[in-house]
Amino acid sequence: MGEAADTTRADPWAQWLLRGRGGGSAEHEARIEARVGRFVDRVLDALEPEPPRCLLDFGCGSGALGLRALQRWPDIRVVFADTSPRLMRVAGERATAMGAAARFRLLGLAVEPAVAPGLQELADASVDAVATRSALAYVTDKPAMLAEFRRVLRPGGVLSLGEPVFRDDALAACAQRRALEQVEPPAQIQARQPQLLSLLQRWRSQQFPDTEAELARTPHCNYSERELFAWTLQAGFAQVHVELHIDAGPSLAPDWDSFTRHTPHPFARSLREVLDHDFRPEERALLEGVLRENWDRGAMVSVERMAYVRALRP
Ligand SMILES: C[S@@+](CC[C@H](N)C(=O)[O-])C[C@H]1O[C@@H](n2cnc3c(N)ncnc32)[C@H](O)[C@@H]1O
Repeated sequence: MGEAADTTRADPWAQWLLRGRGGGSAEHEARIEARVGRFVDRVLDALEPEPPRCLLDFGCGSGALGLRALQRWPDIRVVFADTSPRLMRVAGERATAMGAAARFRLLGLAVEPAVAPGLQELADASVDAVATRSALAYVTDKPAMLAEFRRVLRPGGVLSLGEPVFRDDALAACAQRRALEQVEPPAQIQARQPQLLSLLQRWRSQQFPDTEAELARTPHCNYSERELFAWTLQAGFAQVHVELHIDAGPSLAPDWDSFTRHTPHPFARSLREVLDHDFRPEERALLEGVLRENWDRGAMVSVERMAYVRALRP
């Protein structure tokens, strides 16, 4: 096993972004990358018409956003910042491979910005733009992080965020669990012949919080576009504009196998894992049979919610 394989082990984000996101299918991964590219373009569009000279790509991962910015604006410099050293290294290698070695720097971040804001190495007013794509979502103390974004931005600098809104998925899981528990207590549901709804619930609870208490303490589920709006305003930004995009469409998975193996984020378990490890054979047969039938009929719908925030540092 190579060095790269070892370093991703203790790093769930590197594991997920570099290997796990598409459930092992190259075609699925390519479709996800194309979709991410569209999100990233939308975040960068908000920095026009005056492209920044220096951009902070916060939570850069393997560099999707910053690399696109380096390509799009030949004079820009990018600061790639992330909690995963492995992913930052990949972002740096990719920037170097595209001939931009002199136009980026890497900035390692503490995992918990509430304890250590993480951007201390950046001076006040030192960047023209801060941009994120699905990264602020995973920060526990978002108001503190937004205050740091404001500190490092120069006056007139632009903040552009594109963040997923998972709260509705979690609220649906909570509602389903409550509805089931009103019919009969959880112990009885487990004990008797499994019903489809309770199997669906057990699967869903492995991907999203299914109690209000858990939802409240899960950083990527406990906010919506409205909190992003309020926190951005409270952090002292001006001209705050928020758009929520909701799209329902077919799953990006090219086949049933990829569908069962993919996960929406690194803290979720895949349907395949839940079927194989959590369910008795008759439970697995029931749930997989019904879902597979829906997949074969093309009836599986995936809903995506993205909140875009653009704001100015006064
Ligand atoms: C969904 S990935 C997005 C990566 C990249 N922005 C993209 O668009 O492909 C989330 C990224 O946020 C990083 N991350 C997670 N928690 C973080 C935190 N508390 N502070 C900064 N980055 C964090 C992860 O390491 C990961 O690279």
